[in-house]
Amino acid sequence: MIEFSEKTGIFSLYTGTLAYIMQLFRGKYLLHLHWGPYIELAERSRYVPFDERVNMVHADPGDKSYFIEDLPFEYGFRGNGDFRAPSAMIVDQINAPVLDFIYDSYTIQEGKPPLPGLPSTITMGKDDTETLEIRFVSKSTGVHLCLVYTLYPAFNVITRSVKVENTGKATVRLEKLMSAAVDFAPGEYDLLTLPGSWARERGIERAPLRTGITSVGSTRGMSSHQYNPFAALVRNDTTENNGEVYGINLVYSGNFLGEVEKNQDERIRVHMGIEPSTFSWNLASGDSFCSPEAVLVYSGAGLNGLSGVFHKFYTERLSSSAFRTQERPILINNWEATYFDFDEKKLLALAEKSRDAGIELFVLDDGWFGSRNSDTTSLGDWFVNKEKLPGGIEGLSSKIRSMGMKFGLWFEPEMVSAESVLYKEHPDWILRVPNRSPAEGRNQLVLDLCRDEVVSFLLERVSSILATGSVDYVKWDMNRSLTDVYSSSLEPGEQGGVYHRYILGLYRLMETLTERFPDVLFEGCAAGGGRFDPGILHYMPQYWTSDNTDAVSRLKIQYGTSIVYPPLFMGSHVSASPNHQTGRNTSLEIRSHSAMMGNLGYELDLTVLSKEEFDQIRQQISFYKKHRRLIQFGRFYRLESPFSGNSAAWITVGENKKEFLFFYYHILSEVNKSRSSIRFTGLDERKRYQDTNTLEIYTGSELMHRGYYLPLFQGDFQSILVYFTEAEQ
Ligand code: DGJ
Repeated sequence: MIEFSEKTGIFSLYTGTLAYIMQLFRGKYLLHLHWGPYIELAERSRYVPFDERVNMVHADPGDKSYFIEDLPFEYGFRGNGDFRAPSAMIVDQINAPVLDFIYDSYTIQEGKPPLPGLPSTITMGKDDTETLEIRFVSKSTGVHLCLVYTLYPAFNVITRSVKVENTGKATVRLEKLMSAAVDFAPGEYDLLTLPGSWARERGIERAPLRTGITSVGSTRGMSSHQYNPFAALVRNDTTENNGEVYGINLVYSGNFLGEVEKNQDERIRVHMGIEPSTFSWNLASGDSFCSPEAVLVYSGAGLNGLSGVFHKFYTERLSSSAFRTQERPILINNWEATYFDFDEKKLLALAEKSRDAGIELFVLDDGWFGSRNSDTTSLGDWFVNKEKLPGGIEGLSSKIRSMGMKFGLWFEPEMVSAESVLYKEHPDWILRVPNRSPAEGRNQLVLDLCRDEVVSFLLERVSSILATGSVDYVKWDMNRSLTDVYSSSLEPGEQGGVYHRYILGLYRLMETLTERFPDVLFEGCAAGGGRFDPGILHYMPQYWTSDNTDAVSRLKIQYGTSIVYPPLFMGSHVSASPNHQTGRNTSLEIRSHSAMMGNLGYELDLTVLSKEEFDQIRQQISFYKKHRRLIQFGRFYRLESPFSGNSAAWITVGENKKEFLFFYYHILSEVNKSRSSIRFTGLDERKRYQDTNTLEIYTGSELMHRGYYLPLFQGDFQSILVYFTEAEQ
């Protein structure tokens, strides 16, 4: 429910358990009062106390009863006496900051208005969502700034964005526009973020907040492997299952900033939005600009509580793809099986084996087009290489389909190789600083998606292949960060908008293609998990989590990713041993147990396996198929962290808590240890459950509060995966 009280000037968004409350102050400022568990306010007119203070600035010389720096703003500006990080910086024609934003009006409506040109969480109609817009007006410039809040009562989620409209005569420039800002009262908080790198994406970092500004963000032109567009304030006594957490995630795939400032009074301001040092936007008279959407989740039930809300919300409301609610196919990807060295015969042999193992989708990765026999050529030349595939994509696809499998294809549309027909024909189609040779990454250049003709070309090229009807799945890759960010299609004064325009071009491309081909399942990828963010996930409901396919490395990567994103989104493959990235030898058992946490695939040459190995894979696949619904759509809880010890564990609980799967990984062998036990989460305490391996019966309460005894493990990299089902009372 969303309400406004004329009497107290209080805006409240609340569900049975959540409340988000703001109050108008002096009729012109909007203050943040509360975000957290449901509370009721007594009918008082003023909820923020003010005291006399020394060395403070009065924003309003006519009223010396308050200091602007003392106020917990819903959205703050710099230059008016608030010295904290500003939520927005907008300058007028003479480069003066626009500081006279005064509250103007509000609207409350059912449903949720779309964010033009940007991905956002979806709504299922007017009962699903309610939206509050609070408008501020700058009289000096005619600029309107609108804070937009959508409440999803069934999920306990609030989304936010900011809209700026220039109704004045002169152009103004946006230099910073955060999607969400929250001012917290002093408290003992840690900041939790998900930093990483290529092949070790989304680790978990948690550290006490210090005075000053702490930030994470990306200037790579993509949300990046290094930082995910997510930050959480965590009470310092919060654990996986208890305590308060406030998480903010940005639905955006470009440069972002998550910043947290703890000031002299230990007040905390949190921001999430487009990274300002690589962004500026001229807003001409009559134009408007929308920020990306931020998703705000509060949990009073620890980190598992936070993840539970994000997982359910993203599973049901992030993507508009028809695949959103469907079980995902088990795939074979030829990349680590063949790399560039394949022809049709080799692929068909792999496909045949895969079909025999029970695999449902064959994915042809990089190397099928132009003269791409290495990563030095041909990106942009999206025409099949007839030497490798004489029957073309259609020929290969129809052979694979006649085996009973679906067929998928890899693309990297945003890039071009210097050695390609496309680049020779259109050297001006890349991002490039004039009079400078552009930097290359993985031997490739970045196409300028600010240009309509580039987006149209890519649309036409990819569509012409998908329109043949021979492709059931697309893997959309992106293998380098952006450099030389300058578009010759734009005026010099517009260059501050290039990073954002690139992302808008990308979203247009993805939106049109996914709408045109609703029966094609799209999987995102950026050199592994480099752009694993809700922006891409809106269009592509699954993602290649990391190029690191090592079962043990994946424990950390998948565990960290699960803080925000559900296992359903995580492409996770069984690959060869020794692993191609780490050189580590592991059993087929732990490789499958690690990959089965998420969206299962295989990425190894099945034609060279022994009969025992092949049979084992067949059994893994049949086990996964049996429990696929539970794994992909169950409620996931982390039990033990691979970041803090020698083990990792998690559990996936089915609907009505009638069944669950328990995953346990013992990393290095230890000597002279007694058996340990582990306590489960999320079960029904009153139910009885049977361990289907040992046939032992346990009560839910004993598994949750006394624990489950683990076997003694012999050797490195051991794991167990146990299915429990409800037993008779
Ligand atoms: C990077 C991806 O993450 C890999 O899975 C693979 O598709 C290669 N690119 C192909 O070039």
